[in-house]
Amino acid sequence: MCGIIGIVGTVSVQERLIESLKRLEYRGYDSAGVAGFTKQGVERRRAAGKLKNLEAVLAKDPLRATVGIGHTRWATHGPPTEGNAHPHRAGRVTLVHNGIIENFAELKAALAARGRTFSTDTDTEVVAQLLDQELETKPPLEAFKATLDQLRGAFALVVMIDGEEGMILGARRGPPLVVGYGDGEMFLGSDALGLGPFTNRIAYLEDGDFVAIDHATARIFDDAGHPVERAVQTVAQSATLMEKGNYRHFMEKEIHDQPDACQHTLSAYIDPVSTRFAPPSGLDLSAFDRIQIVACGTASYAGQIARYAFERLAGLPCDVEVASEFRYREPAVGPKTLAVAVSQSGETADTLAALRWCKAQGLTTAALVNVHGSTMAREADLLLPTHAGPEIGVASTKAFTSQVAALTALAATAARQRGRIDAAEEARVARMLLEAPRLIAEANAAEDHIRTLAPELARARDVLYLGRGAMFPLALEGALKLKEISYIHAEGYAAGELKHGPIALIDEATPVIVIAPSDDLFEKTISNMSEVAARGGPIVLITDAEGARHAPEGARVIVGPTCDPLVAPLVYAPPIQLLAYYVAVQKGADVDQPRNLAKSVTVE
Ligand code: F6R
Repeated sequence: MCGIIGIVGTVSVQERLIESLKRLEYRGYDSAGVAGFTKQGVERRRAAGKLKNLEAVLAKDPLRATVGIGHTRWATHGPPTEGNAHPHRAGRVTLVHNGIIENFAELKAALAARGRTFSTDTDTEVVAQLLDQELETKPPLEAFKATLDQLRGAFALVVMIDGEEGMILGARRGPPLVVGYGDGEMFLGSDALGLGPFTNRIAYLEDGDFVAIDHATARIFDDAGHPVERAVQTVAQSATLMEKGNYRHFMEKEIHDQPDACQHTLSAYIDPVSTRFAPPSGLDLSAFDRIQIVACGTASYAGQIARYAFERLAGLPCDVEVASEFRYREPAVGPKTLAVAVSQSGETADTLAALRWCKAQGLTTAALVNVHGSTMAREADLLLPTHAGPEIGVASTKAFTSQVAALTALAATAARQRGRIDAAEEARVARMLLEAPRLIAEANAAEDHIRTLAPELARARDVLYLGRGAMFPLALEGALKLKEISYIHAEGYAAGELKHGPIALIDEATPVIVIAPSDDLFEKTISNMSEVAARGGPIVLITDAEGARHAPEGARVIVGPTCDPLVAPLVYAPPIQLLAYYVAVQKGADVDQPRNLAKSVTVE
C-alpha cells in the first residue's frame, strides 16, 4: 500500500525523498509526489505512474527545500492521475496519507456545506480541508488532534503546515508509522526500510499515537493527547538493507535467498546441537487442543500446508481460514485454541483484525511474522518469528518458505510436547528439517531447465496446477504466483477434484502443472495425469527422480531432490516460484511490482 515519508533535514530534501520512496516502491503504487518548504512557500511535484516520471518532473523543476514529505500512492479513491496523487493541499495544509478515511463522504458534505471546494476524488483531500478548517481557530497540535478525532478508518498521515517550517506532524491509526532519529535531523516513514539511508534509530508509534518532529526532537502523544515515550530501538542493519546484488529482480534474489532464510528461521525453533525443538517464547503446545491459523493470500497457503503436519504428526486439530472471512464469520472457538496469525508484514489489515478478534475472545494469540516490530508482533501474546530478512518483491517467496519452515517446526514441537513422538523421533525430524535448506538449494539447480519451459507457458491463457496432500496448497500457491506476476489466469486444484469439474477445461492449449514428488499418493496422481494426457493437455510434472520414471509420455519434467513428505512443500516451492518468475520475465512483466498489487495490504 502507499508509502509515506517526512524529513526535517539540513540538506536538500528532494534526492532523499526519492531515495526513500524508491525503498518504499515494493509496497506497490501507481503515482507519486513530494512537497517541501521552499523560499516561495510550500511547493509540490507529482506524477502518475512510476517514480521515474516524478524524477523527470523534478529534473525540470527542482524542489529547493530541506524539509519535505513524499508519497507513493496505491489508488483507493479516484484513479491514479497526477491530480489525485499526494501530497494534497488545502489552505495552510499539505499532507500525505496511507489507508482509508471511511467517513470521508459525510465529512466532505459537511465541509462543502461550509463553502469548501474540492479539487480531487480522494478521501485524503478531506483530511487536508478539515485540518485547515481546524487551524482557523486552534494552534497546530490542537487542530491536528481535533481533526484526528473526527476521522474513522485505518490510516497513517504525515503533514506540513504553512508557517511551521521546521515541523512535520504524523499520526498512526492502523497502518504503521515510524519515527527516525538522526543527527540534528528527524524523520517519519512507513517503515524502517524507508528510513534506512538516513538512520537505523527507530521508534515505532503505537496505534492511535500522533507526533510532531522538528530538527531535534519527536514529541509523541497517545490518542487521548497525553505525552508518551516510545522506546528508540537500533534496528539491525539487515532490516534497512535492500540490495539485489547481481540478480535482475528482487524476486529472483529472494528465491535464491531461501536456503538461508529457512536456516535462520529454523535456528529459532530447533537447537542444532541437541536436535531438540525449542520454540520461541517458551510456547507449550500441550496446553492447547486446537490451532486456528488466520492469514491472507500466500501466508494462508503456508498455514494450509502446516495443517497437514499439525494433524498428522502431532494429532492436533488445526483450522486455517483466510482472515477476511474469519473475522466476520463469528466462528465458534474453544478456550484451549491457540490462534496463530501468519503474516510476512505483520500489518495486513484483515489478519490483524482477526488476531484482535481472537484476543478479545480470550484466546492465547501468536504472531508468526517476518517484521518483528510490526503491529501483530507487538499485539499478540507470543512472537513466533521468521527470519527471512526484508522481502522486497511483492510476490512472496522466501517469507512463504520461512513460514512453512517455522510452522512445520512448531508442529513437530507439538508432537513432542503432546507425547506423540519420542526423543529419538524428535531428533530424526529435527535433523530432517535442518537438512531442508540444503535440499532447497538443490532444488534451485533445476533453474536452467525451468527457464527453457517458460516461452511455451507464457503463450497460455489458462494454466491449472494440481497436487495432493500438502502439495495441494502448494498448487494453490503456484497458481497464485503465476497469476500475480505474469497475469496468466491460473487455478490450483486438489488432483482428485479434477474429474469433478475442472477436467472440462483441459485441451491442448491449457497446460497442467502437476506437483507430485513420489510419495504414497503418487500412484493416484499418475492416474490424474493420465486423464489430462488422454485429453491432450500439455503436462509439466514437478517431481523427484523416482517420480520422473513414471511421467506420462510427452510430459515436461522438472526433477527436484528426493525428500521426506514433511519437508517436500519447502523443497518443491522453489521450482514453482522459478516457473512463475521466468514466465513473467518472458512476458516482459514488472516482476517485482506487479500491477494493482501492494506488498502490505493495510486496508480491508
Ligand atoms: C502473494 C502475497 C500475498 C500476501 C498477503 C498477506 O505473493 O505476497 O498474497 O501473502 O497479502 O501478506 P502478509 O503475509 O504480509 O500478511
